[in-house]
Amino acid sequence: MKLAILGDIHGNLPALQVAYDITKELKPETIYHLGDLGGYAPFVNEVVDFLIEHKIEGVQGNYDESVVFDKENCGCKYEDHFQAEMAHLSFEWTKKHVTEKSKNYMKNLPFQISFEVEGRRVKIFHATPTKNNLYWYEERPDNFFFLMTEKAQADLMIYGHTHIPYFKKLNGKYFINAGSVGKPKDKDPRTCLCLIDISRSNVQVTFIRRQYDIKSVIRAIIKSGLPYYFAEKLIKGE
Ligand SMILES: [Fe+2]
Repeated sequence: MKLAILGDIHGNLPALQVAYDITKELKPETIYHLGDLGGYAPFVNEVVDFLIEHKIEGVQGNYDESVVFDKENCGCKYEDHFQAEMAHLSFEWTKKHVTEKSKNYMKNLPFQISFEVEGRRVKIFHATPTKNNLYWYEERPDNFFFLMTEKAQADLMIYGHTHIPYFKKLNGKYFINAGSVGKPKDKDPRTCLCLIDISRSNVQVTFIRRQYDIKSVIRAIIKSGLPYYFAEKLIKGE
């Protein structure tokens, strides 16, 4: 069974369109998104409409939850004071521009999605099986992976949040960070689509990277009044 995963889209409609076009070529059985639909780029409502129109199910991210419940911040981590200030501007912008329809959609997203494929228990969530704002990097010690496996009670875990893709196999369990469609942070600014092929004997994971019209997003960022800082980050893949 082939699954396609759209990680952290973050208001980047042109990137989403290109990532979705890849699925038309690869023809997976199902496509899921990992939440964090708005923030940093201005197309939050268009992204929600796209997901509804194409019947793409997914989970709730920390950004979605924070927008819906009008929290004071997005629950993201910041490296310095300036980054915190920028993140705050993006969060306030998103809360101000998100429609009731989008809010309603985000509000009703589940925390996780579980199913079984070829005898393997699959679990999809935004960041970790217990918290949607914890950063699960590949460099975490093995013990962290074991603990998360215990919490998830799954054989195959699919998540995002860090915007840095990886695939790791440990003690017969599979850990897949799908990366980010709309705001990659691995220094590769191209959009990222994650394809997972699950069979009884094997699990194959491919990260497909493709260029999209980043200039159109930059123009939209400028026009929207969001800080240019986010355009620079997109260009650098940060
Ligand atoms: Fe995110």
